[in-house]
Amino acid sequence: MATYNFDQIIKRTGTSSVKWDETTNVFGYGDVLPMWVADMDFQCPNEVTAAIREKAEHGIYGYTSVPLSNREAVQSWLKKRHDWNVEKDWLSYISGVVPALSAAIQSLTEQNDKVILFSPVYYPFFDMIKWNERKLVTSPLHFENGRYYMDLDHFESMIDEDVKLLLLCNPHNPGGTVWSKEELKQLGDICVRHNIKVVADEIHGDHVLKGHSYTPFASISEEFAQISVTCIAPTKTFNIAGLQAAVMIIPNKEIREHVNLFQMKQGTIMLNTFGIIAMEAAYRYGDTWLREVLAYIETNMEIAIEYIESELPELRVAKPEGTYLLWIDCRALKMTDEELKECLLQKGKLALDFGKKFGDEGDGFIRMNVACPKKILLDGLARLKQALA
Ligand SMILES: Cc1ncc(COP(=O)(O)O)c(C=O)c1O
Repeated sequence: MATYNFDQIIKRTGTSSVKWDETTNVFGYGDVLPMWVADMDFQCPNEVTAAIREKAEHGIYGYTSVPLSNREAVQSWLKKRHDWNVEKDWLSYISGVVPALSAAIQSLTEQNDKVILFSPVYYPFFDMIKWNERKLVTSPLHFENGRYYMDLDHFESMIDEDVKLLLLCNPHNPGGTVWSKEELKQLGDICVRHNIKVVADEIHGDHVLKGHSYTPFASISEEFAQISVTCIAPTKTFNIAGLQAAVMIIPNKEIREHVNLFQMKQGTIMLNTFGIIAMEAAYRYGDTWLREVLAYIETNMEIAIEYIESELPELRVAKPEGTYLLWIDCRALKMTDEELKECLLQKGKLALDFGKKFGDEGDGFIRMNVACPKKILLDGLARLKQALA
């Protein structure tokens, strides 16, 4: 008997939800079903809400430190779920993974250094490189039989002495590719050879579907650990993104000191009281919720894929290995990104993420968030058909 009822529809409009309340600002349409932003339409684990409630009732929200028990909770989560032994003092806390990407770029590279990534990728990767005035180097991923592959020969050919950092997305968003240990090993060997540090955004690491296995990049070898900054967060795993709490795992002392000094200079070393509390409760008590939510998402993925294959045969779905974001190849429709956007928003009344936002290589794709009650999913799929069939 399940503990959680993810079929329950909980109204989110009017709660300042980016996903539900910002569609007019972002897309110019208010009356659309939102299946874009990567958060879930589910309540988080009961234990997280209980911990927040207890603190709220205390009524004093003064400056809050990260207790040792929080570090232990992170440590034991990584050991238990991903067989990765990390030391407590490798952990640096920060308000989010995007801020972590920016902090790593700013503290580990100089202006005009080059930072490399695999495209298409979560769009803030591009923004953080550009806005911090580093030079962007792109290695396109290859989409073959519904999965992304890295072209490591191309990747290596793009490296010169100015390339200082790789921003890696593991598992990959978009596309949901869970990089295999072997793929990561080959990639890491190139980075070691060329003295490139690796910032691994592993925020989706807990959302891996049956039959696939996520390997933390830094866990592969001591050599990889020594060149890496791994970014994780309970916010994606347990649907608490508004609480803004993340962790950078930095085994190398010198790299850690650079990143920590940067945070001190920025004055961003403190976290929000509720973020700290929620993080610990989630990592300590969130197993049941995560098991149940993953099973629910897995079924939603199957429903969506079956529907698209039978009702919209021109579309091709990337076979999801991880994440709750379905990546749909619409290139056979021969529509531009703008045409797709207008068609989905106007005809379908459906707000998705459109591929070009994730880099030129994402052109012709759409990203649909299936972490929602089945009734919403079915409504979204019907709208997709209404727009594109
Ligand atoms: C790959 C990836 N990294 C980072 C984030 C956001 O992280 P945060 O909210 O901790 O800044 C997301 C959210 O969708 C994501 O998909």
